[in-house]
Parts: sequence; C-alpha cells; structure tokens
Amino acid sequence: MSEIQADTLVLGAGPAGYVCAIRLAQLGKKVVVVEEEDLGGTCLNWGCIPSKALISAGHFFEQAEHASKMGFTVETPSLDLSKLITWKDGIVQRLTGGIGMLFKSRSVEWLKGSGSFVDGGTVQVDTADGPVTVKARDIVIAAGSEPAPISGFDFGGRVWSSTEALSPDEMPARLMVIGGGVIGLELGMFYAQVGCEVTVVEATASLLPGTDPELVKVVARKAKKLGVKVHTSSFARSWEEKEGAAHVAVEIGGEESVMVVDRILLSVGRRPRTGSLGLESAGVKTDDRGFIPVDEQCRTSAPHIYAIGDLTLGPMLAHKGSAQGLVAAAVIAGQAGAAFDNKVIPSVIFTDPEIATVGITEDEAKEQGIAIKVGRFNFGANGRALSIGKAEGLVKVVCDASDDSLLGVHMVGPNVTDLIAEAALAMESGLTAEDIALTVHPHPTLNEVFMEACEDVHGLCIHSAG
Ligand code: NAI
Repeated sequence: MSEIQADTLVLGAGPAGYVCAIRLAQLGKKVVVVEEEDLGGTCLNWGCIPSKALISAGHFFEQAEHASKMGFTVETPSLDLSKLITWKDGIVQRLTGGIGMLFKSRSVEWLKGSGSFVDGGTVQVDTADGPVTVKARDIVIAAGSEPAPISGFDFGGRVWSSTEALSPDEMPARLMVIGGGVIGLELGMFYAQVGCEVTVVEATASLLPGTDPELVKVVARKAKKLGVKVHTSSFARSWEEKEGAAHVAVEIGGEESVMVVDRILLSVGRRPRTGSLGLESAGVKTDDRGFIPVDEQCRTSAPHIYAIGDLTLGPMLAHKGSAQGLVAAAVIAGQAGAAFDNKVIPSVIFTDPEIATVGITEDEAKEQGIAIKVGRFNFGANGRALSIGKAEGLVKVVCDASDDSLLGVHMVGPNVTDLIAEAALAMESGLTAEDIALTVHPHPTLNEVFMEACEDVHGLCIHSAG
C-alpha cells in the first residue's frame, strides 16, 4: 500500500474543507485533501450553486410572463429542460474546475477517494487505484452532511432528495414537498414558477420555522400567488405506487387523506456525514445525533484533529464552514488568538422574494428579556424597488433599547441576500442604528431601505407616514 506524508490532511473538499486547505497552503503547510466526489462538496455540486442557477432561471421565466406590464409583447415562455440542466451544470463545472486550478496553483494535493481513520494521525483512502495511507500531524474533518430520511420515504424513484430535484430528467406535473424549510421552499417555488403543481406538507405550524413571522408572511403570500398549496401542522405518513403515480397518505390537521403526485421532494433537514469515517479509531467523540462537538478553535476531543462545516453544531451554511476553515487553518499554523465567533452569521434564503437575516429575532430578544426598539421600512416605498418591479417586502431592525446596538436585522425583498452583508458588517463592528441612519446611502438604491429602517428605530424615518 502506498503511503503519503503531509503536514495536514483535510477530509472533504466542500466550502469548509477546500477553503481550509488553500489557507493552510498559503500559510506554508503541505496539504493533502481527500475527496471522493468532484471538488466543491454539496454547495457547488448539489446545493447552493445549482439551486441558485435554477432559481434565477425560474425568476426569468416568471418575469418574461409579466413583461407585458412594461409594454413588451412576449410569447408565453416554454422550457427546454435539458438545456436548462446543461446550462446549470456548466456553471457548476466552471466553479468546481476553478477549485482544482486553485489547488494546483497552491500545490495542494487532491487524493480522490473515500477516507477513514486508522488512528489519530493516519487515514486510509480507498482510491480507484487501490488503498493509500496518508499520515499527517494535523487532520481536519470536513465531510459535510447528507439529506435526512424519514420512515416510509426511502430516497429513490419517485422520492427525491434535493440532489435529484436539481437534475430532474423530466418536469413533474405534480410535486409534493415534505418539509417547508429552506430547501423545500427554495426549490418548491422554483418548480411552481415553471408550471408545476406544488403542495408543501410542513410538520410545524409555520413555514420556515425559526424565521421572523413577518418575513415568512411575505413569502407565504407569494407562494400562494404562484399556486403553491401549503399544509402546516401536517405530516406525510407513507406512499405507494398506484396507477402510474405516487399516492401519499397525509395527515392534515389531524385528518387523514391521500394525495396523488408524480414526485416527492423530501426536505426535512440534513444530518452529519460522520458514520463511515472511523472516528472511534481516532478518539473523536460525536454527540447522540452524530455531530462533532468542537471548541472555538475547531478542535475535537482528539489532539491534532479538528472539525469544521456541517458536521459541527450550528447552522448548516457554506459560509459558516468556510469561516471555521480559516480559523482551523490559522490555529494549525500556530496563529495565536484565532477563534470562531458564531454571533454574526448571516443567513440567506433564495425564496421569492428572498429572505436574509443576521442576529436574533424580535421574539428571541423578548425571550431573553432584552428591552428592544424595532424599526421597519417597506420596499414598497423605495424608488429603486419600484423601478425594478420588485417592491414586495420589508427590512426590520431589532435594537437594544439601552445602547441602540443592532441585535438583529431581518430582510425580505429584492436582492436582500446581497444587502444583508452591510448589516452583518455593522453588527460585527458594533455599530448602532443611529450610525447606519447617519451613513450617507446612495440614491436610488435598495440599501436605502436598511437606512430608513434604522431611522425608524427612533421614529425619524423620512419616507413613512408615521
Ligand atoms: P430545514 O431545517 O430548513 O427544514 C426542514 C423542514 O422540515 C422544517 O420546517 C421542519 O419542521 C420540517 N419537517 C421535519 N420533519 C418533517 C416531517 N416528518 N414532515 C413534514 N415536515 C417535516 O432543512 P432543509 O430545508 O432540508 O435544509 C437543510 C439544511 O440545508 C438547513 O440547515 C439549511 O439551512 C441548509 N440550506 C441552506 C440554504 C441557504 O443558505 N440558502 C439552502 C439550502 C439548504
């Protein structure tokens, strides 16, 4: 069996692992990355990037339908599915190929295969050419997550995970989405936009549980307008193949019924991919759900072994994994003071309209007994939003009443997934609502909505009737 010696081995090349590997190489380490699939992990191959490509195509489809309001005559759009998938795959390939080039330019070695621990400093990698042993002083686990199953709905055939939903072989006429969370709504709204009849079955009392209800209301209204049927406090129990379709037994508000659909998208959460890594051999402890607990330096229970990304606790977000990757690399390179701070992690949801949040919600602040002030401003009163024909939504700012510091910023509306970075920077820098209100924002732009919401915290918003 061949053997490779490295300073650091990174297990997994998603946005946590590949960012960590590149930074380690920048800091002078000899790095080997073990990855069995294409580089880029879930985010690039079966998550963020392909879903955003499809979602933007869905918006285009819908915009074309509404262009007549602006005076254009546009034929009813029709979709060539295989062309759409080829276009989306091209974007993915460009980005995954880009990581390969970055690895080469930094002399990061990619070993394609699946790795599992032999001991705390050794990983065996099963490659197409046979097993390879990699020994390293430090090891970073970044193996990510996978779609969680529920009983009665094994993945395969008519039951899709997000992976199949991103590369459909044909457009289903009727789609049931089980789980009205982030994936369910992002992809459910795309399918509705391109003409599919979509039904969402959500276990809790609301879509997107945990998100400020004022934001959810705006997206739920749009979903309804697109024809999406939403059943909250409801459960899908089982399904059977009958007469060329899936007959799904559903419990809606305590009543049993059967719904007939062509495909089922199961999006009830994701689970850490830690089961097959041989973590016991390395002394790496997991919790009862398989997550790896880590400290602020991303250290696991085993010396010289770190964990980053979806398989650690906290939100399953690419940018959180990348941020942890940078911390782990700095710690391994001996940089004093490197630590991961999870207070200001923005979250973005590519529904229609988009949702973006950072910090705590109004409800969470109240639960924590913090005296707060809240400011709001609607996109409907913003010139730029009106001129791009996307004036639905609002920005809501939650401030600490004692010192005006920003505790949370919650946005729903056009391009808010881009706008949230200003709020994150403001929070990270300890700015107050007044600081934002006093910052001159360019006109006419969507960013003015954040400024006006901050003015509203003090009742000083110019463009609101008060
Ligand atoms: P999620 O946690 O966002 O939503 C799962 C939903 O399923 C919840 O609303 C839950 O109440 C519901 N549910 C659970 N069991 C159910 C059942 N038996 N029947 C009906 N409903 C049930 O998980 P999701 O959407 O699968 O996404 C997984 C992870 O990926 C999330 O952590 C998310 O943050 C991340 N992600 C992030 C994206 C982004 O940042 N834009 C995009 C896609 C995913």
